[in-house]
Amino acid sequence: METEIIKIEAGQADRQTAETAKRLQYAGKVIRQGGLVAFPTETVYGLGGDALNPQSAKKIYAAKGRPSDNPLIVHIAEMAALDKIVENVPEYAKRLAAAFWPGPLTIILKKSDIVPKQTTGGLETVAVRMPNHPLALELIREAGGYIAAPSANLSGKPSPTAAKYVMQDMLGRIDVIIAADGTAIGLESTIVDLTGKVPIILRPGYITQEMIASVVGETNMDSTIFHNQSNKAPKAPGMKYRHYAPKGQLVIVEGTPDHVINYINSQIQQHHQKGEKTGVIATEKWAAHYNADSIKNAGSKEEPQTAARKLYTFLREFDDENIEYMYAESFGDTGLGQALMNRLLKAAGHKVVKV
Ligand code: TXA
Ligand code: MG
Repeated sequence: METEIIKIEAGQADRQTAETAKRLQYAGKVIRQGGLVAFPTETVYGLGGDALNPQSAKKIYAAKGRPSDNPLIVHIAEMAALDKIVENVPEYAKRLAAAFWPGPLTIILKKSDIVPKQTTGGLETVAVRMPNHPLALELIREAGGYIAAPSANLSGKPSPTAAKYVMQDMLGRIDVIIAADGTAIGLESTIVDLTGKVPIILRPGYITQEMIASVVGETNMDSTIFHNQSNKAPKAPGMKYRHYAPKGQLVIVEGTPDHVINYINSQIQQHHQKGEKTGVIATEKWAAHYNADSIKNAGSKEEPQTAARKLYTFLREFDDENIEYMYAESFGDTGLGQALMNRLLKAAGHKVVKV
């Protein structure tokens, strides 16, 4: 299959020029006719198909190389669309949507009959999100209102945060790629299960537990998020896969700065003696202290936004540079740090060294 690239120049996403409108209209038609279009959102790029067409869901799983028991998120552009795809919208779901949509929050509710089981991986529930990105919203409208979209990476690769990574993974596998700016947030949306009395966060993201609790009160975290409990299946089926895994071995190192730097550098020395290539994900303050072959500056610990935006790029770059052993400083565990550490832990296969 030949993949068509629709390029939207940097900084032009907000401007609804006639040319952009025409291109999105065309891409929307491709989706309505059962085709697949990759598109930017504020979190990561999505791989979109018609959420109400079971054939489109099948195509998405095939293009990603993803198991079909892993449900897709349905992306909408209007509040009214939510009522059509879920059985009923509880009052606290309305408040959350009002507070955080459009934005990086995905809610899970009982699905209505028009949503095919292929889209929800066989589940009776459906995940819904209204993304905060002008191109995504316009594409959803042009596509008929409901786009099922997982992240636009091949299964097992980090979610794509730039158009070039979508192209690396998806050229020749889908109909259209809308190539625009890099994504602003860089980590996938927060997923919250609203089928019970109390919301349960299944995947942490930019919208934090504190933010959700401030709108609806008590909010829980799925207990599998930060631990490697092989006896417990996570509630979001996708969280059980070892996503985000780089080719080499990543280890997270926690401790006082001196201890962390000394430990990592002594490991690096041993690797170099064996001719092995090394990498470090470091906060900007300490980046210059490491002797690794590849050093990634993740900004300051106090502002995890930068590390969040860059993490998946770092992991892909390490692969491209054939780095075999990687070390990462730890980024705290409150606010956005929770989402960041969740993805880092997965990438590291939960390997943490305390020094
Ligand atoms: O930011 C995002 O959410 C991006 C952009 C493209 O919107 N999308 C994304 O989709 O990350 P994906 O497919 O890579 O991750 C969706 C996650 C999976 O872990 C899946 O198992 C879970 O959501 N999920 C979807 N529907 C669910 C449901 N009904 N119940 C539980 N988990 C569900
Ligand atoms: Mg994904």
